[in-house]
Amino acid sequence: DTPSVRALRGPALSFRADPFEAGDDLAMHHEPDALVIIENGRIRDFGDYRALRGRLPAGAPVAHYPDALILPGFIDAHVHYPQTQIIGAYGRQLMDWLGDYTYAAEQRFADPSHARAVARLFLRETLRAGTTTAAVYCTVHPGSVDAFFDEALQGGRRMIAGKVLMDRNAPAALTDTVQRGYDESARLIDAWHGRGRLAYAVTPRFAGTSTPAQLEAAGALWRERPGTYMQTHIAENRDEIAWIRQLYPERRHYLDIYDHYGLTGPRALFGHCIHLCDDEWQCLRCTGSAAVHCPTSNLFLGSGLFRIDRAKGGAAPLPVALATDVGAGTSLSMLRTMGAAYQVAQLGGTALSAPQAFYLATRGAAQALHLEHAVGSIAPGLEADLVVLDLRSTPLIAFRMERCKDLADALFVQMTMADERATRAVYVAGELAYERPA
Ligand code: GUN
Ligand code: ZN
Repeated sequence: DTPSVRALRGPALSFRADPFEAGDDLAMHHEPDALVIIENGRIRDFGDYRALRGRLPAGAPVAHYPDALILPGFIDAHVHYPQTQIIGAYGRQLMDWLGDYTYAAEQRFADPSHARAVARLFLRETLRAGTTTAAVYCTVHPGSVDAFFDEALQGGRRMIAGKVLMDRNAPAALTDTVQRGYDESARLIDAWHGRGRLAYAVTPRFAGTSTPAQLEAAGALWRERPGTYMQTHIAENRDEIAWIRQLYPERRHYLDIYDHYGLTGPRALFGHCIHLCDDEWQCLRCTGSAAVHCPTSNLFLGSGLFRIDRAKGGAAPLPVALATDVGAGTSLSMLRTMGAAYQVAQLGGTALSAPQAFYLATRGAAQALHLEHAVGSIAPGLEADLVVLDLRSTPLIAFRMERCKDLADALFVQMTMADERATRAVYVAGELAYERPA
């Protein structure tokens, strides 16, 4: 039996504000010796151990992690679970990669037992990476969504997912129709949205694989079901953009296509956002849409460099979340992803600080997903989804850490050098869901 109250003790970091706006020091809430008191899957108290220990009932178990760092569980805001087995396929550019590997891998998800096995592995591997929440693309097969949600529900996870909509320019085995895509998505929303901590995302893959009629139906469905998400791809690759222009000559630009069909707004998640014009940036802002930055994927496919300075600068910063975009992304680790985000920013002449990077994978992502009341921070009332990072996960990192003078230094070393091996433990709704083998 799980006791109703338990606690974690150790150094902890959460964010109380956006470091892009408030600055790193004001944004960080660092407790060198914290107590996180958990009750019924939620955080009841968070603060200094000495100040809070009196609130812990006698006999409540305390897991003590003195040389680690307790963080909110990471959030991966764009990932394709059916592509788990094609990470690192010699892809060249986006359109080659989709045709040569991706669509073949996704066809196997017609088989529900394959879908279930991969969903289970994916959910396990995200936990191993310290990721507790993700926004996930399934395949065109409704069974790929049932399998994923069923496994996520069993694990008590907070997950967003949806059936991919494609009614043209893809293999026949991976296409639906306007009506079938709508009906199957509606059925999946009824079956899963709001169950446990699950939420549905209406998922037109991108404008290239949907007819105008399918985008219109997707917009109608999304509007009819408040609280659901919309996820898609935009402006990832120059050849893709030229092709999309030919498919939609009447639209002003790429985002105008989605906007025209009612696919912009709060809870709309746009993956990549690399090659956007001023008007597209403006349209993201005005509509309250979120940009999702997928740096390892963008480097792997040679797609281009996301402009974090454009997204977060100026008077009205956009909601931005980080994401792996596996299988074009090369790792499920948000630490690896933060490291790549730093490198991408460098190539664009912007220095991304470690607190900024960790924010984009925790509270910033939660905000972009309209989930800041639920996850992404360590604060009273929030769900107890937590990752415990070992800051000395390899001999080389341990050696490097000897020269870190403060927390920002240590975070920067972690995002530059660490990976899944740093995940010491993961708590999902207060339960120990993963523990690194000794
Ligand atoms: N654009 C359309 N589909 C995909 C996909 O599966 N991965 C990536 N990276 N881009 C896409
Ligand atoms: Zn993607």
